[in-house]
Amino acid sequence: MPKIIILPNEEHCPDGAVLEAQSGETILDVALRNGIEIEHACEKSCACTTCHVVVREGFDSLNESDELEDDMLDKAWGLEPESRLSCQARVADDDLVVDIPRYTVNLASEAH
Ligand code: FES
Repeated sequence: MPKIIILPNEEHCPDGAVLEAQSGETILDVALRNGIEIEHACEKSCACTTCHVVVREGFDSLNESDELEDDMLDKAWGLEPESRLSCQARVADDDLVVDIPRYTVNLASEAH
C-alpha cells in the first residue's frame, strides 16, 4: 500500500505523519480520514484553492491535473511546479511526500 508522508505543519500536524493510502484515493480523503483537516471549502468540487498542497515526492505518479484544476491552481498563493489540489490528486502506487502550505491555512481562516 502506498504511504503519504505529511511534512510537519504547525497547525495541522506539528510532528508530521505517515498515512496509509489506497490507490485511487485522493490525498485529501486520506488526510481527512486520519484527522488531518486540510481545508476543503468547496467540498471537493474543484472550485476553490483551499485544499492546495505541494507534492514534494511522487508527483509524477499522480493522475494528471485537468484544465479546471490548473485554472484553479493558477489562483493559489505560493504556486509551485508540484502544486496540486489535494481533492483532485489521486494516489497511485508510489509513496508521496506532501507539504501543506501554511498560507493556505491563513487564507482559509481569514475567510471564516
Ligand atoms: S476542496 Fe475546493 S478544490 Fe479541493
